[in-house]
Amino acid sequence: MKKKIIVYQSSHHQNTEKLVLQLARALECDTCPIAQTDRLNLSEYAEVVFAGGVYYGKPAKSLTQYIEANAGNLKDKKIHLILTSGIGFKSYILNFKKMVEGLGLKVDRTFHCKGFNTYGIFKYIGGIAKGHPSDDDIISAIMWFRD
Ligand SMILES: Cc1cc2nc3c(=O)[nH]c(=O)nc-3n(C[C@H](O)[C@H](O)[C@H](O)COP(=O)(O)O)c2cc1C
Repeated sequence: MKKKIIVYQSSHHQNTEKLVLQLARALECDTCPIAQTDRLNLSEYAEVVFAGGVYYGKPAKSLTQYIEANAGNLKDKKIHLILTSGIGFKSYILNFKKMVEGLGLKVDRTFHCKGFNTYGIFKYIGGIAKGHPSDDDIISAIMWFRD
């Protein structure tokens, strides 16, 4: 049985995807973009990482909807959460964790870091969180997972 997979959503600048693909390479685990989850068989995995960007203060809807729809199949699994966001508020990941736990699921680890953001007014100043996820962010994520 394959152990781990990262299911991810990434649409703005592929910030989350950049982090996820390097993390997956380092840890030798599978990845699945949220748009391809119709072909995903969760029963093959013991651990699932959900990763995505923050939009209007919340994790990507497609990601939370997938978790809600598959809560029954996730009950016996180790779940980890990753978010990237322009501002990097800790409350984003804490609220995400609460939401997932509210479905009766157990969240093991959480990781969050900044991601380049040019949405709205930020485009006029060249964006915020430029260069993120940075190499340091990616190393932190790998250490976080390996720990
Ligand atoms: C429509 C939209 C809304 C966003 N809302 C927020 C927000 O409320 N808070 C924040 O910190 N970042 C916000 N961001 C920035 C993204 O969370 C950030 O760029 C993230 O890394 C995007 O991940 P992605 O490139 O993998 O899609 C927003 C970006 C977009 C495009």
